[in-house]
Amino acid sequence: MNILILYDTVFGNTKKIAEAVADGFSAAKAKVRLIHAGEAVPTDVATADLVVVGSPTRAFRPTAATMKAVKNPLFDFTGKKFAAFDTRIDPEEIKSGFFRKIVTSFGYAADAIEKTLLKRGAVKIAEAHPFIVTGDQGTVLRKRETETAFDWARTLLANAGSR
Ligand SMILES: Cc1cc2nc3c(=O)[nH]c(=O)nc-3n(C[C@H](O)[C@H](O)[C@H](O)COP(=O)(O)O)c2cc1C
Repeated sequence: MNILILYDTVFGNTKKIAEAVADGFSAAKAKVRLIHAGEAVPTDVATADLVVVGSPTRAFRPTAATMKAVKNPLFDFTGKKFAAFDTRIDPEEIKSGFFRKIVTSFGYAADAIEKTLLKRGAVKIAEAHPFIVTGDQGTVLRKRETETAFDWARTLLANAGSR
C-alpha cells in the first residue's frame, strides 16, 4: 500500500506526529511518503492508495496551507481513502469556562479537513484522531502522543485493507 501523509506545522508538533505515524506505517512494511501540505504535487495524491492529512488547530481551523492542499482542484481525491488528524489543546486545560466553551463548540482542524475531503468524494476510513499539545499556545506535545500516533498507523492500515 502506497501512503501519502500531508501535514502542516507551526511549532513542530504536528510534524512530530506525522513522522511518528509514518514510522508506524514503515514498521508495518507499508510504503509511505511524508510531504508538507504546501509542497505536494498532483502525482503525490494520484499515486497514493491512502492519504492521511494532519494540521495544527489554529483558531478552530486547519492552517491555510492545509486547506489549500485539500481544496486544490488539481488533486484528485475522488474515491481516495483518507484519514485526518490534528493537534489541539485539551479543553480541560483551559482555565476560563467561557473560552473552553468557545473552543469546544467552534471545532477543530480535523473537522474541516474531513468535511472538505468528503465533499470532494474521498472515502473516510477512520475517525479523525486528535493529538494533544499543552501550554498556553500549545507548543509542547503531551507525553506518549507520538507512541499513540505510531500505533494509529496500524489501525489505519487494517481499516484501509478492509474497505
Ligand atoms: C494563534 C493560535 C490559535 C490557536 N487556536 C487553537 C484552537 O482554536 N483550538 C485548539 O485546540 N488549539 C488552538 N491553538 C493551539 C494549537 O493547536 C497548537 O499550537 C498546535 O496544535 C501546535 O501544533 P504545531 O506545533 O504543529 O504548530 C492555537 C494556537 C495558536 C498559537
